[in-house]
Amino acid sequence: MIIFIYACDLNGAIGKDGDLPWRQSSDLQHFKRITLGGTIVMGRKTWESLPGKLPGRRNIVMSRSIRDDIEQMNYDEVISLSEQQDVFIIGGGEIYNLFIDDVKELHRTLIDTKIENADTFITDISNLGFHMISERHVSAGEKDQFDMIFQHFIR
Ligand SMILES: NC(=O)c1ccc[n+]([C@@H]2O[C@H](COP(=O)([O-])OP(=O)(O)OC[C@H]3O[C@@H](n4cnc5c(N)ncnc54)[C@H](OP(=O)(O)O)[C@@H]3O)[C@@H](O)[C@H]2O)c1
Repeated sequence: MIIFIYACDLNGAIGKDGDLPWRQSSDLQHFKRITLGGTIVMGRKTWESLPGKLPGRRNIVMSRSIRDDIEQMNYDEVISLSEQQDVFIIGGGEIYNLFIDDVKELHRTLIDTKIENADTFITDISNLGFHMISERHVSAGEKDQFDMIFQHFIR
């Protein structure tokens, strides 16, 4: 099954200048808890924003160029893998758009802010047939810039 996991602000912004627009340690822990032991798929630009492979997970990168530093797959290969096991799509904007018709489950963290001059956004999911199955409000801790809401949707 294809599963999305992302964090966005109140306008749907997910990125700015090639990076996350916030520092939210609690959200990174939430991301780790959900994806650990699983398979994650990301776009080349998101891959380049990371310090390296995310440990404890099978890391797959999508690019139209051949790379020798990381396992690569195309759209059809990701879809057939997702028919055998769960696949977490972890961004960024181009890759969420690519799988938006295929995603069956979604973990969204709503970051309680509106980022100025964001340059990457997630599609509005409100009319795509998702319904929320859980929601948890979390106040900003010492290592978070903003309050956040962890939401879980299926369709
Ligand atoms: N808030 C969040 O949850 C979150 C999560 C992840 C990322 N982000 C942010 O999102 C931003 C990056 O997103 P982005 O949209 O610019 O880039 P991206 O989706 O990470 O990567 C785009 C790249 O993916 C490859 N690609 C796209 N479609 C493809 C296809 N059909 N087949 C094969 N490869 C394909 C291309 O690589 P090549 O150019 O190499 O061909 C393309 O340049 C950053 O700011 C990042 O921090 C936010």
